[in-house]
Amino acid sequence: MTQQSIASELIAALRVASHVVALTGSGISAESGVPTFRDAQTGLWSKYEPEELATPAAFKRNPKLVWDWYTWRRELIAAAAPNDAHRALVTLAEQVPHFTLITQNVDGLHQAAGSPSVIELHGNIQRTKCLTEEIIIEQWDEHPDRPPHCPNCGSCLRPDVVWFGEPLPTAALSQALDAVGRCDLFLSVGTSALVQPAASLALEAQSTGAQVAEINLQSTPLSPYADFVLRGQAGKILPTLVRTIIEGPSARS
Ligand code: OAD
Repeated sequence: MTQQSIASELIAALRVASHVVALTGSGISAESGVPTFRDAQTGLWSKYEPEELATPAAFKRNPKLVWDWYTWRRELIAAAAPNDAHRALVTLAEQVPHFTLITQNVDGLHQAAGSPSVIELHGNIQRTKCLTEEIIIEQWDEHPDRPPHCPNCGSCLRPDVVWFGEPLPTAALSQALDAVGRCDLFLSVGTSALVQPAASLALEAQSTGAQVAEINLQSTPLSPYADFVLRGQAGKILPTLVRTIIEGPSARS
């Protein structure tokens, strides 16, 4: 089958779907200039693996190194704007009866694009919390030699993101699982489908009868199981799909 005929079949499925779930990964923000998680190590940071920085053990070992890495990523993300793929999902949500957006991204670009409710499985880098009390902290004093300390209890501050080995936020995971159990079409966009439990959501949806579509530059462990696989940039594929749904001859009335 050609990419075009797969796209046509997916468009037909989207037109009749009653509940679409989209799960996004860092590939959807690549065209906004945010490096994907596994490509994130450039310049100063190229000697570190993300797995060496995004863990509770790494923070315990060298809190300043981890804090500085997140400060670099936070600044990079603050300068980024949503792209056509983020915007296409906002429009798609308006075209189907029920739409749930689940993201592994911590960059907030879906919200910046106008997606009203986003389930953030891995937190948000723009929020900071107390390491001990886990409450969100809005203001703190910077210190050049160490991560800032919590103004309430003096413990270290850390980004409000999920590190390797940490559990996902309970409410976000249960909302995601609830939507996955109800959906009839699951879109996996720009994720390597390697990190659990997010990676299992597509197959979970399939096991309850949903069709699964993957949009990715490359093959992933999900690809052999997906009902539709579209290879290419999310920022090109998603707007084309959505435009056709809106303008096509048998558009939803
Ligand atoms: P990865 O960096 O693992 O994968 C990015 C995926 O996006 C790859 O499969 C690329 O082929 C694809 N990709 C890149 N550019 C793309 C584009 N323009 N259009 C479409 N696809 C594109 O990122 P994630 O799957 O998001 O978790 O990684 C999942 C999690 O791994 C992250 O949330 C992070 C990390 O562990 C935590 O920090 C807990």
